[in-house]
Amino acid sequence: MPNSWFESVAVAQRRAKRLLPRSVYKALVAGTERGQTLDDNEAAFRELGVKPLTAGQPAERAMATEVMGQPLSMPVMISPTGVQAVHPDGEVAVARAAAARGIAMGLSSFASKPIEEVIAANPQTFFQIYWAGDRDSMAARLDRAKANGAVGLIVTLDWSFVHSRDWGSPDIPQDMSLRTMAKHAPEVAVKPLWLWEWVRTGALPGLGVPNFVQPGERVPGFFEAYGTWMGTPPPTWDDIAWLREQWGGEFMVKGIMRVDEAKRAVDAGATAISVSNHGGNNLDGTPSPMRVLPGIAAAVGDQVDVVMDGGIRRGSDVVKALALGAKATMIGRAYLWGLAANGQAGVENVLDILRMGIDSAMLGLGRSSIDDLSPDDLLIPDNFER
Ligand SMILES: Cc1cc2nc3c(=O)[nH]c(=O)nc-3n(C[C@H](O)[C@H](O)[C@H](O)COP(=O)(O)O)c2cc1C
Repeated sequence: MPNSWFESVAVAQRRAKRLLPRSVYKALVAGTERGQTLDDNEAAFRELGVKPLTAGQPAERAMATEVMGQPLSMPVMISPTGVQAVHPDGEVAVARAAAARGIAMGLSSFASKPIEEVIAANPQTFFQIYWAGDRDSMAARLDRAKANGAVGLIVTLDWSFVHSRDWGSPDIPQDMSLRTMAKHAPEVAVKPLWLWEWVRTGALPGLGVPNFVQPGERVPGFFEAYGTWMGTPPPTWDDIAWLREQWGGEFMVKGIMRVDEAKRAVDAGATAISVSNHGGNNLDGTPSPMRVLPGIAAAVGDQVDVVMDGGIRRGSDVVKALALGAKATMIGRAYLWGLAANGQAGVENVLDILRMGIDSAMLGLGRSSIDDLSPDDLLIPDNFER
């Protein structure tokens, strides 16, 4: 029953696994090397207990907040991901769901839909870029985002081009040529509902990255753009300060895992940082962001919005992150599972699960506002922090 409501992100993930072609599902699971970081992102939440009250809880709980000047109905935002081939409506479906639930969205520069369509669906859109290509091409990407009304920029810095995983990598094609279709036909044939979604819209996954270039220019394939990025020398903090100058507005540095770098990001002009390890897709052995969040929030939380992402699967995870100092959280796979399971409605379903979970956790902890959450609400094992 792919179109009915699901009760947890875990159920959405199981549906995604059932519905998606194997290589698309594997690309969403991703992770690198032995998967130590991927595992720790969820394990860290599992290690944290809570201290519930049993009487005298507040009848109402407030969870609205503001990040990068954007009002959010709850402390959750959509983290940027390229969602090629998951669903024909791609990031537009995600944007509609986020707008319907009153939250902001990060749009990846490797996304499958043009920024114009995404911002039309959700004006609370931040554009995300990597340090890829020369300064002129990056400035042009920024100009396009600005001209279309992006409300902030996210620059993602944590990527080391690690491409191996012990459980094997998916075979991701460069485009949807006849040869590619023939090659992937066996795995697609056993996923008729996924195929039907695409046939219904009269298109097949394009696997292009339209936000990498200017409107009207030839859209590069995913690996072509990836090659440009790989061939670009990594940025210095001066480069990041230049990028921030070019942008001029709200500016998040995503991928910070160390206190010294959080301070460098603030010095470079960031207005927000995301404590993040790219969902376990970067250097394996990096701990969960939750283990370094308290130190980073203590160091720079009074100067910039500190957000975390990685491993959020339920509302109580969000509450734990806030208790350790995050202003809000961002989600990746959770909404991708929802998108795969049921398009826009599936993403709304995931956001509703998180909202209900945050509310239940606050009720249980006896907190009437997310502003009152603190480490005192948690049972934190020795050696939790790194
Ligand atoms: C399939 C996939 C694609 C991603 N693509 C991007 C991207 O294009 N830009 C980016 O900044 N982060 C990207 N990320 C990282 C997410 O923004 C986010 O940091 C991560 O997914 C959070 O962990 P979670 O999936 O456990 O919630 C991607 C993650 C996944 C799983």
